[in-house]
Amino acid sequence: MPGPIPRHLLPDNAAISTDGRLSVGGVDVHELAQEFGTPLFVYDEEHLRARCREAVHVFGTGVAYATKAFLCIAMAKLAYEEGMHLDVATLGELHVAATAGVPASDCVLHGNNKSRAELEVAMEQGVGRIVVDSFDEIDRIEAIHAATGLIARVLLRITPGIEAYTHEFIATGQDDSKFGFTVSTGLVDQAVERSRGSAAIELLGLHAHIGSQVFRIDSMRESAAVLASFSQRFALPELSVGGGLGVAYVGEEEAPTISQWGRAVLDAANDAGISARVLAEPGRSIVATAGMTVYEVGTIKHLEDIRTYVSVDGGMSDNPRPVLYGSGYEAFVADRADSDRTQAVRVVGKHCESGDIIVREGFVPDDLAVGDLLVTPVTGAYGHSLASNYNKVPRPAVVFVRNGEARVVVRRETLDDLTRLDL
Ligand code: LLP
Repeated sequence: MPGPIPRHLLPDNAAISTDGRLSVGGVDVHELAQEFGTPLFVYDEEHLRARCREAVHVFGTGVAYATKAFLCIAMAKLAYEEGMHLDVATLGELHVAATAGVPASDCVLHGNNKSRAELEVAMEQGVGRIVVDSFDEIDRIEAIHAATGLIARVLLRITPGIEAYTHEFIATGQDDSKFGFTVSTGLVDQAVERSRGSAAIELLGLHAHIGSQVFRIDSMRESAAVLASFSQRFALPELSVGGGLGVAYVGEEEAPTISQWGRAVLDAANDAGISARVLAEPGRSIVATAGMTVYEVGTIKHLEDIRTYVSVDGGMSDNPRPVLYGSGYEAFVADRADSDRTQAVRVVGKHCESGDIIVREGFVPDDLAVGDLLVTPVTGAYGHSLASNYNKVPRPAVVFVRNGEARVVVRRETLDDLTRLDL
């Protein structure tokens, strides 16, 4: 039976008092729940900053934070203040970055199907790098250039044919992928040739992202080596190894650090003898462990010889990852964080379907009761950003805590927010 929640799943500045109460950034989690309600996303701001600094330290200024993992104005500002650029995958993400005061020139635009309108805005605003994914996009960039004279600063996304060993939905490096120019089919050479010959394009380098929640540094190294060899062949000044570093979600998992990942891919690039600048785009590894979700337990249903269901006041609308990818999480009680978790339960949400599972096989203290605050750690990445209003559930607030102070960075949605688009 699991003991207390493993420390490595908690944010850097989480603490458990002698009477078992959890605090983050010097603020008691019960007080946070009382003041801001539940469900609540709580982030340790210093943890976020420390991971940004770690990425900048190993890769240098210009390493981009992949905003899809978690984005709001405060997060964009924080990453930028710490020296990161921003990876945006849509005009929506670019808009939030701009609203946070991040210049377009410090953004990298991704997407496997950028529209002409998106590319036009990106070129007009002077986005720092457009990561071009297809020949159709090159056509669109050339048409925009013909009409406006604008020139796109481009990285070409390549698909290196490397298995990332992650969930099939988030693996992107294999040949059978919708993303990028496939190395094995010879598309990279054609794409480089075409870009070089185009007046619409300033070709800066190549990019590859083999997948997300990747634990195998070897796969990352291999991908960096493929990128490096092409980069050398074409004498390009930059290459980007994308993001993808995995994090531990449950006690038995252990993930490489950002520094270990960085050093491995930089070594692979050095071994290939390149002088190109190596860029990267970590998302999950910056924000995942910094964040946690605080729920209130609403009902407990004991089914003898079957299982115990613990229903909380959120669900698949604030964390669809268990449903989407079968992802595992752990849970613990905020004011008994040091207790052994001896009771096997399934933690479920309040949505109208049986698939609405937060923790499929969880363990909680024996005395878990209605009204307890149940915390799921490591929800800082692809939690709030994947959240929905399913069943017209308002999305939770997001709070940053630091030095004993809490600030709301995204307010809780209200019932009126749920009809704001209806005409
Ligand atoms: N760069 C590119 C081009 C990407 O597509 C991604 C993630 C990243 C960087 C950042 O990857 P990270 O460091 O966060 O692994 N919703 C899924 C993850 C989807 C990842 C999509 N692309 C999940 O919840 O696991």
